[in-house]
Amino acid sequence: MASPQMQPSMLSILVTFLCISGTFVFGQYANFNKLELPQGVTGPGSVTFGGLLASGPFTTVTDGRIMKWLGPTLGFVDFAYTSPTRTKQYCDGTTDPDKGPTCGRPLALSYHPVTGLLYIVDAYLGLLVVGPLGGCATQLAGGFKFANGLDIDLLTGHIYFSDASLTYTIRDATQPGFIPDSTGRLLRYEPLTGHVSVLLSGLSGGGGPVVSSDGTFVLVPELGSTRISKYWLVGPKENTAEVLLNTNGNPNKIKRGETPGEFWVATSRVGYMPPTPVILPEGVRFNSDGDVLETVGFVTEFSSNVTSLVVQHEGKLYVGSHFTNFIGVYYN
Ligand SMILES: *[C@@H]1O[C@H](CO)[C@@H](O)[C@H](O)[C@H]1NC(C)=O
Repeated sequence: MASPQMQPSMLSILVTFLCISGTFVFGQYANFNKLELPQGVTGPGSVTFGGLLASGPFTTVTDGRIMKWLGPTLGFVDFAYTSPTRTKQYCDGTTDPDKGPTCGRPLALSYHPVTGLLYIVDAYLGLLVVGPLGGCATQLAGGFKFANGLDIDLLTGHIYFSDASLTYTIRDATQPGFIPDSTGRLLRYEPLTGHVSVLLSGLSGGGGPVVSSDGTFVLVPELGSTRISKYWLVGPKENTAEVLLNTNGNPNKIKRGETPGEFWVATSRVGYMPPTPVILPEGVRFNSDGDVLETVGFVTEFSSNVTSLVVQHEGKLYVGSHFTNFIGVYYN
């Protein structure tokens, strides 16, 4: 479990060893292919589509770039970056966590289909935005320890994002003996005023929050636990949270599914494949009542790499991971 591939190391601390013959269901998707990154580039941990005008998908990679898929012939090309100090010479292809503050470490993306703006969360640089031509992104809110998840409320324009901890950075989380705490937060940015408010604190690690399509609640995963909570934006429970469901594995980013009221979350749990424990990456589809509708196992295609999100687009599932050199696409 000391291998850096097994990061986030919080998993190794929090998990119990479950039998590999658990609940996963194989075979819902007959086909699999890969959108591969250019040679020497790794870690497409987020995925967002740009709609009719910008297509994509866009992804974030370990060396600090945001790349855009231009189809099978051209593949992924540079689109944007977050750190004004980033140079291609120093940063391209790097996986050195010490270079993160200089090269940028974008972790989450969300595209606004009306304004054409691409919102970015970077572990070190916080919340940023870049226009349709890409290039160097503009910081909207900074000063966070480990910003890591993002979603736009398309009805209000409010941005919901997460900060995994008040005490540790993404670099700290790769160190041997790292022990996570429960100081993560859910935050909201209001574009008209630039105001950031703290909605929830004391969360067990980060993950990617998501707003419901009707704007009534935000779902908040805790990567260091197995909880997904519902934070109400309206109604009698406004500004309070309740646990919506407990997942089998640690929940990472949540995304809205294509069917209204449905969501996909990437989870990782530990299975036991004698003689070693292995990480089992899975995708879970669930609804706003917390009912699990489908579980898809990714271990055949991703091995024991933690996956970070599942994006459903035109019936296909696009699966991102910080530890591979491809985005996996499952389809029928
Ligand atoms: C992660 O995936 C890569 C292929 O992209 C593979 O070489 C590696 O063994 C995997 N790591 C684990 C821990 O399964």
